[in-house]
Amino acid sequence: MSLRLAVIGCGYFARNHLHAWRDLRGEESAPEIAAVCDWDVARAKAIGDEFGVPSFSDPSAMLRETKLDFVDIAAGPAAHRHLVEMAAAHHLHVICQKPLAPALSDAIAMTTACRNAGVHLMVHENFRWQAPMRAMAAALDEGALGRPFYGRISFRSGHDVYHDQPYLRHDERFIIADLGVHLLDLARFFMGEVAALHCHTQRVDPTIHGEDVATIMLSMRSGGCCVVEASYASKPLQEYFPQTLVELETSRGSLRLAGDYELSLRSGDQVTQRRVAPSPRPWFKAPGAVVQDSVIAIQRHWLSCLQSGRIPETTANDNLHTLALVDACYRSAASGAVVQIPEHLEHP
Ligand SMILES: NC(=O)c1ccc[n+]([C@@H]2O[C@H](COP(=O)([O-])OP(=O)(O)OC[C@H]3O[C@@H](n4cnc5c(N)ncnc54)[C@H](O)[C@@H]3O)[C@@H](O)[C@H]2O)c1
Repeated sequence: MSLRLAVIGCGYFARNHLHAWRDLRGEESAPEIAAVCDWDVARAKAIGDEFGVPSFSDPSAMLRETKLDFVDIAAGPAAHRHLVEMAAAHHLHVICQKPLAPALSDAIAMTTACRNAGVHLMVHENFRWQAPMRAMAAALDEGALGRPFYGRISFRSGHDVYHDQPYLRHDERFIIADLGVHLLDLARFFMGEVAALHCHTQRVDPTIHGEDVATIMLSMRSGGCCVVEASYASKPLQEYFPQTLVELETSRGSLRLAGDYELSLRSGDQVTQRRVAPSPRPWFKAPGAVVQDSVIAIQRHWLSCLQSGRIPETTANDNLHTLALVDACYRSAASGAVVQIPEHLEHP
């Protein structure tokens, strides 16, 4: 069954969504892009023309006039709550970009609205869908490596991220809310839930409003620990943007994802190495291939869940736990204290 969707928000990252939906048309799920919408009329029309679909500048008019199965929200975080609640009121499923909302209270309200409307709400949390991350998770799932007890998830770059996303210069909460949210999700993906954390932030570039460096120590419920590092202020010897580097030590081995997708695995005394690069597509733009490829993977997952009735991996409900960590990081950075993470989030 082909599912009809509309993309709301036609800015920088939406192009990846649209290309991915278009590529997925060739697969079993065969989604149909029914419309695009951006309140910037010229932007909506340009993207609509490029992808051969009708364009709207008013989301509510689009939802009234277009037959849809779900909405794909690629607008900025400040617009997410309003758009998700509007889609829920039309009884449409929603996949929404990260961060789900600027405040945890908004994310909880969105989760509740979708649950009450009986629709799925999944967060487009794509880093865990990057090819090397899936390869690492598959290696852990095989079981021979045992349980991870130490992790290091590192994204340190000097890339000019403000070129494509100028709004990041003005965000009071920058690198943890925008990038750290992905890395914290990866920590949960590989190592489970967090019991407590400590976070140190820095603003190295004095011309921006928020923090451009964060160093986070997570104490996992399993007893393990994980260091999460995010920086856009680094001048690394080798620039790997937008690759995330990961090291995991487990009870019976270790895994290391180094630059250029070099994955090394030690299991017992055996060491193996392989490259887990994303497969190229004509619309991928260097150096973003690993991210663009993950957009296809997560959108494929969403379609397959909608069609089979399976629960997606990063439901809004699940993502609240990641957002609670983001919130806790800012509290820890402000106070200097270790912040305990409640096991159960209090929400209706
Ligand atoms: N997952 C990733 O790897 C990744 C990477 C980059 C950005 N993002 C996320 O994607 C989202 C969009 O980021 P971007 O860089 O493309 O931003 P952008 O500012 O380039 O584009 C957002 C677009 O949404 C439109 N918009 C905002 N509110 C709207 C509304 N209520 N109705 C209709 N249109 C509206 C704006 O006019 C703009 O064209 C953000 O949540 C960002 O965090 C994710």
